[in-house]
Amino acid sequence: MMPLAKMAETVLRTADGREKTRISRDFAAQWRAARADGSHPEIGTATPPLHPARPEKPELLSPRDVPRRRPGSPEGRIALLHAVAHIELNAVDLHWDIIARFSDVEMPIGYYDDWVKAADEESKHFNLMCDCLEAEGSFYGALPAHAGMWRAAEDTVDDLMGRLAVVPMVLEARGLDVTPGMIKVFKQAKADQAVEALEVIYAEEVHHVAYGSKWFHYLCGRDALDPTPKFHALVRKYFHGNLKPPFNEEKRAEAGIPPDFYWPLAETL
Ligand SMILES: [Fe+2]
Ligand SMILES: [Fe+2]
Repeated sequence: MMPLAKMAETVLRTADGREKTRISRDFAAQWRAARADGSHPEIGTATPPLHPARPEKPELLSPRDVPRRRPGSPEGRIALLHAVAHIELNAVDLHWDIIARFSDVEMPIGYYDDWVKAADEESKHFNLMCDCLEAEGSFYGALPAHAGMWRAAEDTVDDLMGRLAVVPMVLEARGLDVTPGMIKVFKQAKADQAVEALEVIYAEEVHHVAYGSKWFHYLCGRDALDPTPKFHALVRKYFHGNLKPPFNEEKRAEAGIPPDFYWPLAETL
């Protein structure tokens, strides 16, 4: 079996979405099988690219140039699915990147188990969204998508605690806030396939946020740091803008993110 950091780098260097996620799921299965008997496979080291390989399409535009469509219309729903597919593909790369990028930081084996599982789930999410798009006669790449999704990774390229604070604990936590509203849109349209897919995503994303919180707190404990002020300082340093209420306080709590983590960073209404 390839060392885990090399697997991560291989995923990051694969451009096509379906192919990237196929390899990602295959590596995750290999890792799971190797871990099943309690062994500690090699992590190794890697030199991940600063930007992961991506398909030629979708065209990446600055968020303000991505056309807005009414969420109630069929075109609006396709645009929404396309946006989620794009987020999921970025998430696949983000979870493998946190393995490859910080392979020089000594972490317990459970850290790798968690992010491999998260990467596997993101790969499933991307494929679920692609299946929904294709069922609607569209596909991933048919519409433009947001550039700048990799910015958080670039900004925290040499700071694991910063990466944990901004990616799972801010960006993925934001997913918990907005997904129920999305599910409602598709329920109203009686789009069962999308509702089912988004419910899978919603259930599994809680764990990704929880992994972020768990390893953030672990590192705070290892360095004898007070987690709350440390989290605030890192988000202010690396995250551009304020956090947007309303927050899904219940799911955030379930994921180990208490209110005094995010409320002080919220925009004042
Ligand atoms: Fe996801
Ligand atoms: Fe996730």
